[in-house]
Amino acid sequence: MVIARSTPNIALIKYWGNRHDAFRLPAADSCSITLDSPGVEISVEHSPVFHLQSFLPDGTEKILKEKDTARIEEHLNLTKQFLSTKNLADVIPESVSIVIRSAIPPAIGIASSAAVFAALAKCYAGLISAASVGAPHPINTASVGAQRAVPLPDAIHLTNRDISVIARLGSGSAARSIFGGFATLINKPDNLQPATCNTIDSAYAMQIAPETHWMLHDIILVPTMEEKKIGSTEGHHTAHTSPLFQKRIEAIAARRQHICIDAILKKDFEALQQVVEEDCWDMHNVMQTQTPPLHYLNDETHRIVDEITDLREREHLPVLYTMDAGPTVHCICTEAALKAVQEFSHAQKDCRVFEAKIGHGATFI
Ligand code: PMV
Repeated sequence: MVIARSTPNIALIKYWGNRHDAFRLPAADSCSITLDSPGVEISVEHSPVFHLQSFLPDGTEKILKEKDTARIEEHLNLTKQFLSTKNLADVIPESVSIVIRSAIPPAIGIASSAAVFAALAKCYAGLISAASVGAPHPINTASVGAQRAVPLPDAIHLTNRDISVIARLGSGSAARSIFGGFATLINKPDNLQPATCNTIDSAYAMQIAPETHWMLHDIILVPTMEEKKIGSTEGHHTAHTSPLFQKRIEAIAARRQHICIDAILKKDFEALQQVVEEDCWDMHNVMQTQTPPLHYLNDETHRIVDEITDLREREHLPVLYTMDAGPTVHCICTEAALKAVQEFSHAQKDCRVFEAKIGHGATFI
């Protein structure tokens, strides 16, 4: 059995829309901060038939919808498809039993699917390493019949880039949670030829800077615990129907992603705040103008954002806000603004508040 833990990430430049839906190849680059909590722990072991169990933050078993199980089973199939491109398809078990224990309330704008698929990808990498030690597999089948005339190869350790590809096949943003600190999901490396640009491994994540680089905090305000009706998977599929979509993709490629990475590397909070908030509103404008339109923000979101903006201006605080596919507001700040942001957040009587720092990415337990 392999056990891994992972955490959500909060996107600074958002991934919204695909260039290839089945492989979840994004239409643009994105980047994020990996958080240290809340976490997801997943255990995976060989099983004659596919089996999935999931436990909620309060420890009760989650009643899984057919589509949730189908998504995880489909992810296993895509993982095998990716591994077959590396001649490793037979190293992963035919089927598995998976147990998910999550401390993340689902579908409220804290990326639970990112943490789940990052932990799952890590578990598959662990199973591959374990299975490749001492067991016959495609690389050394010649040695099996020949009384191991050829020595067994060392354990196969997938690279973090490969693990990020596996995570991405379940949830695009999950690719970034493999890495600690600040990470980017690269939509398409510059050297890819058009004929190969939609291959299953043609988008992957990389670390921009480790968690020790810049001590930022994310104070997360959750105005409602109600699950959203339309998830991001469906939203990505129709993002291109927005008249604003193409302009968004161009702005990220030409300017935003570069400005964001530069601001992170230089620890320039003001530059970071401007580009992150610009990109957040741009993504929500695309969502609201695609067909069918998606309205993830509510009145509480707008009120909190207005009040945080006032607080920032009044007290000159290094704090920025951003929202993913839900009404939840992420207030990202430096140590200098932490106390004021905490006080503001805990005074919001109808909001649940989570406090996170920068995390170290997916790990084995
Ligand atoms: O990874 P997905 O399919 O859950 O999509 C994530 C979408 C956003 O959270 C809105 C943006 C992002 O980059 O995380």
